[in-house]
Amino acid sequence: MAVLNPSKYMELLPIEVRKMLTRVIETLNHSFDGIWMPEKLMNATYHYIRNRGKLIRPTLTLLVAYALGNGSSFEKSILPAASVELIHIASLLQDDIMDEQRIRRGVQTPYSLFGSHTTMLASDLIIAKAVELAVKSGDNDIVFELLNSSVKLAVGQNLEMELGGKDHVTLDDYLKLIYYKTASLIESSMIVGAYSVGVKDGDVIRKIRDVGRFVGLAFQIRDDLIDYLNIDVKNPTLVDDEVNIVKILSRNNGDINASINTARKLLNEMLDNAIDVIKTTINSDVLVNYINLLRI
Ligand code: IPE
Ligand code: MG
Repeated sequence: MAVLNPSKYMELLPIEVRKMLTRVIETLNHSFDGIWMPEKLMNATYHYIRNRGKLIRPTLTLLVAYALGNGSSFEKSILPAASVELIHIASLLQDDIMDEQRIRRGVQTPYSLFGSHTTMLASDLIIAKAVELAVKSGDNDIVFELLNSSVKLAVGQNLEMELGGKDHVTLDDYLKLIYYKTASLIESSMIVGAYSVGVKDGDVIRKIRDVGRFVGLAFQIRDDLIDYLNIDVKNPTLVDDEVNIVKILSRNNGDINASINTARKLLNEMLDNAIDVIKTTINSDVLVNYINLLRI
């Protein structure tokens, strides 16, 4: 069981999608051009733009647009893709504060470098910028979708706070929690990809929502497994009170290995479900191959 190097996530992408991802990165790099702010706040704001992650969410936006756009230009997907990544970055800044996380992506966090106040304000202005980019896309459905998942992210973080350290958390509680804190934004990333190429058909959108939810749930189970097994050298291990699927599954029988296997099976089943739905709608091998990278 190993964690992929972030560049692995880009190797599989078709050249058109890679080009678009480069444009998304440029948009992110310039997102605060012309805005004056004190240096510390500027550094906190740009921290996760400069220290890039895997860019999974904007990549999913672009892959859905690529698949559904029938080869048409997906220029219009750039702003929503950048907006999605900004929302993710804002949530990382908040998560660092809440978990008192000192290291992420192999570097010191803004929380540890600049303190929680500056980090909180950086996250606040990043969300404002994310909304601006969504509005600039010119499609209110995109704006509402992203606002809606921003609300869910906050609810999810709060739910985790409520459930953390409690010994009565069930698998159902867990699935609800990870839907809110993680899967909702992954679902929205894919939905705005569809919207950005003009796909609004209710049936198709519902199916993409299903795909996004399955991928998002799988993604968080994967993250929990990686955390539990401490196999990502760039990200630190589990914080004491954090909710983790392996802890939940092993609570009653104490069998860690069996719980790891159950979690792994569940993650792979979620991905199978996502791929089944993709085959009946988007029918994109590229998207299927990308999602298959999440298997462990
Ligand atoms: C980390 O997300 C936080 C979760 C919701 C699991 P990612 O694993 O996508 O983080 P980066 O952006 O690649 O660092
Ligand atoms: Mg956390």
